Amino acid sequence: MDITILGIESSCDDTSASVIRNGVLLSNVIASQSVHESYGGVVPELASRAHQQNIVPVVHEALKRAGVDKSELSAVAFTRGPGLLGSLLVGTSFAKSFAQSLNIPLVDVNHLQAHVLAHFIQEPDVEPVQPKFPFLCLLVSGGNSQIILVKGYTDMEVIGQTIDDAAGEAFDKCAKVMGLPYPGGPFIDKLAKEGNPLAFQFNKPHIAGYDYSFSGLKTSFLYFLRDQIKINPDFIEENKADLCASLQKTIIDILMKKLEQAAKDLHVNQVAVAGGVSANSGLRNAFIDYGQRKKWQVFIPKFAFTTDNAAMVAITGYFKYKAGDFCDVSLPPFSRVTF
Ligand code: KG4
Repeated sequence: MDITILGIESSCDDTSASVIRNGVLLSNVIASQSVHESYGGVVPELASRAHQQNIVPVVHEALKRAGVDKSELSAVAFTRGPGLLGSLLVGTSFAKSFAQSLNIPLVDVNHLQAHVLAHFIQEPDVEPVQPKFPFLCLLVSGGNSQIILVKGYTDMEVIGQTIDDAAGEAFDKCAKVMGLPYPGGPFIDKLAKEGNPLAFQFNKPHIAGYDYSFSGLKTSFLYFLRDQIKINPDFIEENKADLCASLQKTIIDILMKKLEQAAKDLHVNQVAVAGGVSANSGLRNAFIDYGQRKKWQVFIPKFAFTTDNAAMVAITGYFKYKAGDFCDVSLPPFSRVTF
């Protein structure tokens, strides 16, 4: 019998719904919220309101594009957390009432696990290339930077994580200092292509084990600019591309060094990357480069599955559905927690 899952994602500022049938993607609709751009960051209250406006049309569109009637759904999977509580409440409440009205099971999904399992989304008429267990996944987003040992679809161990800022935050905060729009990661990526990555050097942290730290880099970047602007007020404008390229190289070097160590220590040669920052072209190239040099088999997600999307929620829901792992309607969302 077919297993048809509706996935719902509303953890931050993207309202998304997706339909997956037997592991194959039928639709993935994302409504992004431009309302936050002028504030330089996501405003939680505005995000919740936008989710409320978007959720019904987005789900409707996902079902329509999939050519699936709601009566054909086997279960509703929703992002339970981590994320912004007000945003999560919209998706969670909708998923609960929709599942109850259809009298079908409800599946709660951890947003971070979903980013990792995005590698298992199968697209129609595309030969699947998927990692085999166990593999390592570098999960890098605006809220998280983790190295995860993935032993099974829902058996994951975080072996390293940031002790302060996430890699995406480092991109965004440094971009803000340079006067770039929010979120700054994609702008740094674009400008870095024109710059010299060896033009400037920034401090790299010395943290034990596989953990990361990015707050020192952000401070060192800020102080460096402050000192240079005293000498030349146009320093940022005149050196923007080189600054972006050097900063991006530093962040990538920090990320890859720990990942390389983890792969070596754990004798794992299947290595994946996931999360919003995995859209970064420098990081994607670094993966290809490491793959060739270290004989890793690398897995880089399609751009559409790097940022928040409901397809990754639906695929996680599919695996949990097959394992009979359902949840009760009383289950509340959570804002923080890893796995
Ligand atoms: O996973 P995501 O969409 O949201 C969560 O944090 O859950 O990640 C958003 C982050 C932002 O910090 C954004 O600047 C970063 O991903 N990002 C990038 C790029 N595209 C998105 N960072 C660097 N280069 C990019 N091309």
